[in-house]
Amino acid sequence: MKPELESLPLAEVERLAERVADPAAWNYLVSGAGTEDALRENLAAFRRIRFAPRVCTDVSEVDTELRLLGLDLPHPVLIGPTACHRMFHPDGEEATARGAGEAGAVFCLSGYSTTGMAAVQRAASGPWWLQYNAAPDDGFTRELIAEATERGAAGIVLTVDTPVAGARERQGWDGVSLPDGLSFALTESAPYPVRPPSSPYEIHRPALDASFTWERLAGLRSSTRIPLLVKGILRADDALRCLDAGADGIIVSNHGARNLDSVLSTAEALPRVAEAVRGRAAVLVDGGLRRGADIAKALALGADAVLLGRPALHGLVLAGAQGVGHVVRRLRYELAMTMALCGAPNLAALDADLLV
Ligand code: LAC
Repeated sequence: MKPELESLPLAEVERLAERVADPAAWNYLVSGAGTEDALRENLAAFRRIRFAPRVCTDVSEVDTELRLLGLDLPHPVLIGPTACHRMFHPDGEEATARGAGEAGAVFCLSGYSTTGMAAVQRAASGPWWLQYNAAPDDGFTRELIAEATERGAAGIVLTVDTPVAGARERQGWDGVSLPDGLSFALTESAPYPVRPPSSPYEIHRPALDASFTWERLAGLRSSTRIPLLVKGILRADDALRCLDAGADGIIVSNHGARNLDSVLSTAEALPRVAEAVRGRAAVLVDGGLRRGADIAKALALGADAVLLGRPALHGLVLAGAQGVGHVVRRLRYELAMTMALCGAPNLAALDADLLV
């Protein structure tokens, strides 16, 4: 009997997705850097935290709404940028954008999209952001930001944690390459590498810029009026430099533990960053979030919202737009349940005092 999608816990979505996924695509999805200790630690660090719930608080209504970077959102669960969605489902990024919008989640389109921005714009039924890496040609990045702004993107995410590619032994190759028939299609001129590394010892990639600095970040920030978020921050001092550069949002992320072997977990980095930022910019986090309880913990540690990477792809692999929507709705439901059981009727009531 085929279980009804809407009743599937997310661990089950992941298990079933692995069964139907193309094996190479699945390896790409699950791979982490080096020993993969940091990959496991991203999940474990959230799991280790315990709640000290408040009782006899009126939680007959649980409100998960928030205002984030100019958007009124029904809940703090967003879809983070991940590459190559057509590798996971024939409907690719259009399915993810549709599923996200239907479930009230902001969709962040990856610079490594296998679908053009115009098609994603048409498919999106809710707000979307565009992500791009710190790349060699700031002129091109500005053009991309201008196109996204023109097309109605509600924010730009600039990833700064990948000066060079990390070693993902499970993938069999590092960097990003695509199966036949797919292309990096964000715009016709997107300068992403299709060329595989010429030697296994080559760490630099043409699409990444190992010489990118804070000054250039400030320059890119000034090129658009829509919110700019900087992704890949793990240190309080770097968070403060993002503020100096004019960032509107900071994404605490270790790139799904796919880059630096032995990197700090995002659950550990988050409170340090949130404390340094003190509400002067939005703070988001990704990495290791698999349950509503993890999300409640992230918010209690100081995040305004969270981004889903792999969990959204599990849904995409299993059931396209519907699968993505299910993952978001399930996490929103688990978050509301956790909040009620913690005595937190709204997101503001999720504070560090609830955590041990
Ligand atoms: C990755 C690249 C696309 O993590 O950022 O695979």
